[in-house]
Amino acid sequence: MKHSELNIFKENGQKIACLTAYDASMAKLIDSAGVDIILIGDSLGMVIQGAENTRSVSMKDMLYHTEIVAKACKQALVIADMPFHSYENAQTALANAKELINNGANMVKLEGGSENTEVIKALVSNDINVCGHLGLQPQLVVDSSGYKVQGRDKDSAQIILDNAKILDSLGVDILVLECVPSNLAKSITNSVTIPTIGIGAGKECDGQVLVSYDMLGISLGKQPRFVRNFLNSENTITAAVKAFVLEVKQGNFPAESESY
Ligand code: KIV
Repeated sequence: MKHSELNIFKENGQKIACLTAYDASMAKLIDSAGVDIILIGDSLGMVIQGAENTRSVSMKDMLYHTEIVAKACKQALVIADMPFHSYENAQTALANAKELINNGANMVKLEGGSENTEVIKALVSNDINVCGHLGLQPQLVVDSSGYKVQGRDKDSAQIILDNAKILDSLGVDILVLECVPSNLAKSITNSVTIPTIGIGAGKECDGQVLVSYDMLGISLGKQPRFVRNFLNSENTITAAVKAFVLEVKQGNFPAESESY
């Protein structure tokens, strides 16, 4: 997928399938299996480094994983997470985002809404493609008790909706919505011009993302309800990834039981 195709997908109602990757082998497999977007998520803090949250991931870590994943991707759009503390002001954010782009990312992702206005303006005016991230913001979560559905009441839902509109007006290209009720994700999706990519946000989003290790059953312990193990019904990892892509494209993932 090219960056210029994002809005065409939304306009045509074509769903966007996204998975995370952190290494070359998995990136190559996921890319060949037809995923539209590969995200080098700072979930690598938990998945690769065994940390309790994403906050210890550094720019050095992100640059390393971005470079090896980007080199392995032929067709997917590559998005790299900006780690905690890497976008505290416009100048720092711009310098760090440029490094991620130089290492092969097509776009950078950062968490938060209007508080990032100056940062986003600096990135957009320097032609850096930006992915927003609202709802549950993992960089604000310190331990597992913080992983909660966001925007359940009227006021907090309104804040998320307002922030989505602000990000859209600032020129953000695409928006991840994490752990929000389906009806809120639906109204955000209908209120913004950019595609929304849900994780625990229901099937009305313009696309879906999962952590690859979660949807292959590699992550141990109790999984959130929005995680489906696609390897349960397939024999190979490639088949599981293809099944994910198909289920997203056909609007069959997530089911209501996998949503809030
Ligand atoms: O870091 C990550 O993998 C993410 C996804 C959960 C969207 O941000």
